[in-house]
Parts: sequence; C-alpha cells; structure tokens
Amino acid sequence: MKSHSTNSSRKNFISDARWRDFGKHFLRPENNHDESASQDFYLEMYRFLGKELGPARKKIYELKIKKEFINKYGYSPKNRHQVRKAVKNNPFFQFWGHMRSNINQEMFYKNQLIVDRQIENLNGKARVNQKSMGTLNLNPDLKVPKYQSFDMHWMPGSYYTEKFEKGDISAGALYDSGGIFLMTNGSLGPFNDGAAYSLINYLKSYLPKFKPNNILDLGCTVGHNTQPFKEFWPDAKVTGIDIGAPVLRYAHARSTKMGYSIDYSQQNAEKTDFRNSYFDLVVSTMFLHETSKKAINNIFKESYRVLRPGGLMIHVEQPPFRYFDDPYEQFIRDWDTHNNNEPFWGPMHDLDLHKMACNSGFKHKDIFEKMIPLVKPKLDDKFSLGIGEWFIFAGWKK
Ligand SMILES: C[S@@+](CC[C@H](N)C(=O)[O-])C[C@H]1O[C@@H](n2cnc3c(N)ncnc32)[C@H](O)[C@@H]1O
Repeated sequence: MKSHSTNSSRKNFISDARWRDFGKHFLRPENNHDESASQDFYLEMYRFLGKELGPARKKIYELKIKKEFINKYGYSPKNRHQVRKAVKNNPFFQFWGHMRSNINQEMFYKNQLIVDRQIENLNGKARVNQKSMGTLNLNPDLKVPKYQSFDMHWMPGSYYTEKFEKGDISAGALYDSGGIFLMTNGSLGPFNDGAAYSLINYLKSYLPKFKPNNILDLGCTVGHNTQPFKEFWPDAKVTGIDIGAPVLRYAHARSTKMGYSIDYSQQNAEKTDFRNSYFDLVVSTMFLHETSKKAINNIFKESYRVLRPGGLMIHVEQPPFRYFDDPYEQFIRDWDTHNNNEPFWGPMHDLDLHKMACNSGFKHKDIFEKMIPLVKPKLDDKFSLGIGEWFIFAGWKK
C-alpha cells in the first residue's frame, strides 16, 4: 500500500480563489454586484470549511472519537466505514456535514437563478453557424443511463435536463459558470481546464514522441477539458462525447467562439458509433467516478475497440482508497459518496481498474497508473504547476 498524505490532490480544492479570477468568455453568464458577492461568499465558505475547520474536525476525531472507539472495541477504526459510523453522532461532524452539504445545494440554487434570469440571451448567443467550425450531432433518442438519472452533486437537473424546447444550454451554463469553478474552489484554473493541461503536461514530458491525430474525450460536458487537446495538437481531429444535449450545445458554442474546431456528439461512452481502430488517444477527465462498475467495464471495452493499435486510453481521476493508509483520510475522501449525491464516488475508488482493463482487451504489461503533477493554468501560463497531483489510469492497445 502506498501512503499519500492529505497534502496531495484534495488540498487543492481549498485554494484562495476569488470570483473575479474566473475566466471570461462570451457565454459566461453575467453577474451583477450582489451576485458576484454571493459567489465570493460560496468560495470563502468552501475554503473555510476545508482549510479552517478541517484541522479542528480531525483533532476532535483523534482526541475524542477515536479514543472512545478504542476504549469500546480495543482497537482503532480499521477502515473508512468504521470511521463514518464512529463520527456519525458527534455534533461537530454533524454541524460540519450540514454546512458543507447545504452550501453546495445553496450555491447551485443561487447559480440556477443567475442562469435563469438571462437564459434567453444565453441560448441566443449559443446559436452558432455550424458550418464554420466543428460539428454538433445530437441524438434526441439517446437514453440517459440509470447511474446518471438524478441531480449529480445536487446540481438541479444534472447535465441532461432540457428546460426549453429548442436550443437549451442551461445545464452547460450552470456547470461552467458557478458549478465547477466554485465547487473546486478555482483550483482548476480560470477556465476549469486544469485536468486536461495536467494530462498534456505529463504526455509532453514523458511521451514526447506521442502525437495523436485523432482524439476522443469521453464525458466532455462543456468541452472545457476537451479544448486544450486541440490547442496543444492543432492538427488533430478532436471529438467530445457526452449524454447531455444542453451541455454539448454549450460546449460547441464555447469552443467555436473561442476559435477551436471540435466535433461534439451526443453518445453513450459505453457504446458509440465510431468505427473500430479510429482513435489514437481516448481520454477522460473526472468522468469515471460518476458512472457504475458495469458502465466502466463497457467504457474500457469500447475504448479498446475504438483505439487503433498503438493507441492510448487514459483517465484522470482522484487516487483510489488503497493509496491511503489512514482510515480517517479515506473517510474524508469518501464524504461526497454519502452526503453530496455522488453515490458512485466511493465504489469507483475501490475498483480494481487494472483487472477490468485486462478483461476489456488491454494486456497486463500495457496498463499503468501513476500520480502526475497538478497543473493550475494561469491566463499567461497554461502549464503553471499548482499544489498536488492527479491520479491517471491508462492502457496502450498493442
Ligand atoms: C463530472 S462530469 C465532467 C467531466 C468533464 N470531463 C470535466 O473534466 O469536468 C461527467 C460528465 O460525463 C457525462 N456522462 C456520464 N455518463 C456518461 C456516459 N455513459 N457517456 C457519455 N457521457 C457520460 C455527464 O453527462 C457529465 O457531463
């Protein structure tokens, strides 16, 4: 077992970002003075609950709860489940949990109001001339998988709900504006694209000869982590797929107006319509943990099928629980599973991805996983390093 300290990835989610740090682009919902102030309040609350109250919460666990547990059972909590049961009735943990969960729900509610009051204008702005740039292919008959059919991390309507009959982009605007920037406390950079730049930074350092011509991004949402691949490899054909139409419309408009020709398509990553051996690189960022075990099996099989021999599948996530010896650290990392409407977070971080990739066609010797440096892009330096790391899981098709 490899022991990782709290100093790694999660600590990044408690940076000192301010709302004005958020990257401006033409589709970004406008905020008035009071709305900007409330966005700063949410950023500050996420930071305060993590950075200020986090250490106090740990102290209460170590000095009181763990001791009581040892007195009762004669041993320390052995895993995250025992820690969760032990802290359940402690008033501080209850208070902290209530605050954290409520702030997320309130943040989304407030941001939904911000999007709603200007949605007609945003929907209009998002109507772009499809002929000039990458394509947008929507499939109104695509079924939303069961593992996606609820308000993921309390985001009202999740990624797929259509609120208007024609050309709706609400879900995209909600995720790109308030959602991801606030939830991650600005740690992904002004345009929320730090995961892609972290991956590209790794690829250019460790695989400098690898130059993909045809790239697929699975679960691309608003294309924020798809665009960097087109920016870095401008001659490559880049495609993003997602199950949600409103996020894809937003992605297509956002990329087009930013000058990137990317094809977006509404498809389930478990079974796509791409032909065999079509892509050199299949990527995903922060995607697998919102899907089920069965879906990941299918996604690995599908990735293997659409990769050409010599191609690479690579996923960016948080590290599995086995990277952490301390059951308390595992419990903290599992918090969203039980309190933030992210039911697949915990189960996914327990999976044996290596075995699943082997069952999907990848050979044992061609599969690898590692921690890579976290890039936190700045406006003038896209590859500026932040604090912490990402976990990558990858397989070559040989
Ligand atoms: C956590 S979000 C965002 C991931 C995004 N790549 C990022 O870096 O922020 C996961 C996305 O995956 C999409 N998704 C979930 N299951 C999917 C599936 N089976 N096929 C395609 N997209 C899926 C969701 O609609 C959502 O937009």
